[in-house]
Amino acid sequence: MPRRKTECASIAPTPSTYLPHPRYTRLALPQREQSASNESTLLTLALRRQYFHTDGADLVGLLCISKSLSGGESDIASTHHIYNTLQREHPDVIETLTTPNWYFDRKGEVGEGQDPWYKSSILYTERDGNRVWNKIDPNNVTSLGRFNTGPDAVIPPLSAAQLHALQILEETATKLALHMILEPGDIQLLANGHVLHARTAYKDWPAGSVDENGRERVRRHLMRLWLAVPESEGGLKTPFHDSDVKKRGGIQVGDVAPVCPLDAE
Ligand SMILES: [Fe+2]
Repeated sequence: MPRRKTECASIAPTPSTYLPHPRYTRLALPQREQSASNESTLLTLALRRQYFHTDGADLVGLLCISKSLSGGESDIASTHHIYNTLQREHPDVIETLTTPNWYFDRKGEVGEGQDPWYKSSILYTERDGNRVWNKIDPNNVTSLGRFNTGPDAVIPPLSAAQLHALQILEETATKLALHMILEPGDIQLLANGHVLHARTAYKDWPAGSVDENGRERVRRHLMRLWLAVPESEGGLKTPFHDSDVKKRGGIQVGDVAPVCPLDAE
């Protein structure tokens, strides 16, 4: 069953989006660039690199409908390969990544009775097996300044060891990665907990841009799918509270109704 996704690529957060479209929208830009961008005169916009991360499902699918003007390429790296490499080269980092004292930002998608963050480790094992899983988005652990700084801080900031671990994790994934360029029609399917993914920065045409013949320019457009099923339906046994919940994974916020837009919003 597809689960909604709002944060992976360059789309603005929307409630319970079941079929998101990773594509440029003005809201995907930083605030400063949103106000500065004049779409009638600005020819290209650059979107920043996405560092190695996981999404929120068991299986992540990406269908390339059209490519960007430049960049926007994919990198993937095996969690198991990363784990084995870190065990040899940085055992201290393994210790840090498996300690469940990391705070993850819910980015405002907070259900009733929830804190604006949750606490977990970044590396963990399946409940009844030895397979290593990975759950990380660097953006969600480095964005908590509003809660972990100043006199009103309610959670601790990232420690020096955690900042070091993030750096080594990214460097190791980069070193071991497979680089992929998706062409229109290509589909990428990843076992989300066992494969990290990243995306290079890209440039694209602004919305409504036309060529010298007045034809609308083709812009980057992908469709993403999240798949997850509860344990009772054959799903993997994760250590998370929703492992056997019907609506497992994704970003659930109360009873917000799901939507399935047919194009980027
Ligand atoms: Fe992603």
